[in-house]
Amino acid sequence: MTADLRAAVPGRAGALLAELGGKAVLHDLYDEAGAPVYHAIAGTSPLEVRELVAALRSTSGPVLELAAGSGRLTMPMLTLGRELVALELAPAMIRILEERLQTVPAARRSRCTVVPGDMSDFDLGREFGAIVLGATSVSLLDATGRAGLYRCVRRHLAPGGKFLLTAVDVPDFGSSTTEQVMDVDGADGTRFRMYEHWTEGADVRTVTVFPHPLETAEPLETAEPPVTVCTTRIGVFPVAQLEAELAHAGLVLTDSRPLPPAGTHHHDVLLVAEAAA
Ligand SMILES: C[S@@+](CC[C@H](N)C(=O)[O-])C[C@H]1O[C@@H](n2cnc3c(N)ncnc32)[C@H](O)[C@@H]1O
Repeated sequence: MTADLRAAVPGRAGALLAELGGKAVLHDLYDEAGAPVYHAIAGTSPLEVRELVAALRSTSGPVLELAAGSGRLTMPMLTLGRELVALELAPAMIRILEERLQTVPAARRSRCTVVPGDMSDFDLGREFGAIVLGATSVSLLDATGRAGLYRCVRRHLAPGGKFLLTAVDVPDFGSSTTEQVMDVDGADGTRFRMYEHWTEGADVRTVTVFPHPLETAEPLETAEPPVTVCTTRIGVFPVAQLEAELAHAGLVLTDSRPLPPAGTHHHDVLLVAEAAA
């Protein structure tokens, strides 16, 4: 754990972390210890998956999925029978995805290629009928990273190909500085407590995940070390800004629609863009 990472955790999560002191081991949400936590808490809502899979049906040809993670979207997209390349940066996430692929029928698995890579700077030397960036992961990139992403997407889109991405509009936390606390049941039955901190107007929000206090025999503060805590910082910007950036990068928006609410304070949208002629 680096001091920088610890210092980046604000609010009640930061205070709890300070209280835990040396007992807490802080991880990035996508590193070796974080990846299983992300995998456990991801994918509890099928809504985005359903919308993306439906939108993919209006495209043809091979699919490139960016920031594929542990495969929450990859696995259902593979059921479409298309060739799919899954690009992901974090080795720990790739490992989980590859393990999951071993559990599906060989014919389906053989249509999927997992590629380690950075979505803001990649060159696969080929084109795709659709490029998908789900889970609102565009907000993991800063402005320079997003410019690189759009450049790479344009270069990899086949003529008539579509870029499908989901994004969060500015979260509706109410006003000023707020911290949402959510108890999350992981897919494997493990429970977590998630703190999401945002100051109105700030260009990042911080998500920090603790083991659920009820999961430990004693209160978290008196729990035996190590207590694994995972954190990630996520960009916050209006969807209108994203739409303007896409246009500036020569990606013409052909659709923009709200995703069905997943019961959170986020307003997510699905954007579809094509390369300008
Ligand atoms: C919110 S998760 C989404 C994972 C998966 N798509 C899903 O729906 O569960 C974001 C993923 O983006 C990956 N990631 C972060 N920065 C990246 C980058 N520059 N290039 C590729 N992947 C990246 C993380 O490692 C993580 O797996």
